[in-house]
Amino acid sequence: MTKHRTALSGTGRGRRLTLVALVLAVLCGLVAVFLVYRTPSPGLRPVAAPAVKGERVVVEDFSGAGLPDGWKAAGGDWKVEDGRLVGAPGGGGQPGRIVFGRHLNDFRLEATARTGGGARLGGEGSTARTGGAAPWVALGVDVPASGAAPWSVGALRGGAAPGGLLEFARRTDRDTWDVTDKAALPAAAGGDRDVRLAVEVHGTRARWFLDGREALRTSRLTRTADGGQALLVDGARVSFDDVRVTKLGANPLLRPVGSPMAVIAHRGASSAAPENTLVSDEVARRGGAEWIENDVQPSKDGVPYVLHDTDVDRTTDGTGPIRSLTAAEVDALDAGSWFGPAYAGARVPTLAAQLDDLRRRGGNMLLEIKGRHSRAEVARIVEEIRDHGMAGRVVVQSFDVDALKYTRALAPELPLGLLRTELDPDPVAVARELGLSTYNPPAGELLAHPGLAKSLHAAGVAVTVWTVDDATRWNSLEALGTDGIITNRPAELSGWNAGRLHGDH
Ligand code: G3P
Ligand code: CA
Repeated sequence: MTKHRTALSGTGRGRRLTLVALVLAVLCGLVAVFLVYRTPSPGLRPVAAPAVKGERVVVEDFSGAGLPDGWKAAGGDWKVEDGRLVGAPGGGGQPGRIVFGRHLNDFRLEATARTGGGARLGGEGSTARTGGAAPWVALGVDVPASGAAPWSVGALRGGAAPGGLLEFARRTDRDTWDVTDKAALPAAAGGDRDVRLAVEVHGTRARWFLDGREALRTSRLTRTADGGQALLVDGARVSFDDVRVTKLGANPLLRPVGSPMAVIAHRGASSAAPENTLVSDEVARRGGAEWIENDVQPSKDGVPYVLHDTDVDRTTDGTGPIRSLTAAEVDALDAGSWFGPAYAGARVPTLAAQLDDLRRRGGNMLLEIKGRHSRAEVARIVEEIRDHGMAGRVVVQSFDVDALKYTRALAPELPLGLLRTELDPDPVAVARELGLSTYNPPAGELLAHPGLAKSLHAAGVAVTVWTVDDATRWNSLEALGTDGIITNRPAELSGWNAGRLHGDH
């Protein structure tokens, strides 16, 4: 009996050991799977959608028999098959379109997509299997129920380029394409497999995400006043699943998961051109800055001008405080020669001229109300922003709390940022009290308080730091959750971001 019990005990130990080994193996397997899937490597990335905070406006997994309620096919052939939505292009050169959702200013549209019939969207060997056109799939913005142009898209385009392209483009009412931004498709995104597509839109700004990582951004998305979201296909049959539309908060500076930091050009591209002039703003824009930081102060006769210093001596050929000069006197100043002969003749721009330039040529403004301003002076600034139709593209920041309070009272639609030289004892409480969208300390303060971004983000507030021109600190600041960097070197930060997007560093 003892021997038998011992044998039984031995068998029991063996079973326990086997069980323990099995549990360990399963745990190791789970850990391995977790590690593999959480690491965004070029060859294997998670397709699952990242958690996005906001109101879910559309959540569709196509579990019903037909097209979901409120979904309208506006071109091509659309049906639900095996729990997925399958779309094919229409005839006559028109892409297949299906429209859903409702008009939103700030939203994220996501879908899982896979091509059928062996066609590939992007990647080596992209091929069309239907109709002969190069295949593409797109997420549609502001598409009317009729499907009629104009509308805008984030498109993933294969065929023409060896590796495929991502684009932001507008379909004009003459059925032509106006491609505003494009980038090579990350190598791993092509192929005949599920790809998670997403565009995140805030007014005229948008970011393209592939499998949870940003791959392209634009500041020049053309919007219309109506229309909903859409899926579009051409040159291939594409099946979709797990479509979501999330209405987002209006904070324009919060950085989405999987996205590099916002590029904010300090006084324009002030390392390359005379600060706070139209030319430094143009250089910044062409260098990839989404935001241009400008300082504003009034002339003697109350016209808001873009100028940093209290007086004009350093950056123009004039002398004296700007508040002592009339608009006619400021207009006569040369604001370029001090920087270099090639810039002779550049002017101190009025705020109106700068807003007009941004509205026509693209871009957004982080406008610093410089120094103390009266309520009437702030009212004039607000009037200029509204008169130029730029309220959706301007964030107002200041070191002066009163200027922010006046702005909030006069123009509650304008997002606010508080500039600080040192952290407040409780930045979140200050942000709540002033209704801030962004809290803007010097970079050193954030590096010294690494938990700051997390606590501000929990309160829905972004953290934007100034003024950082070197990649070592960009790296540290990104790791701490910084949403945007104010820099004199926007083109360099933009290039650094691009390297980030494609996994180079
Ligand atoms: O935007 C932050 C930064 O501009 C604040 O400093 O002196 O350059 O206006 P300053
Ligand atoms: Ca400034």
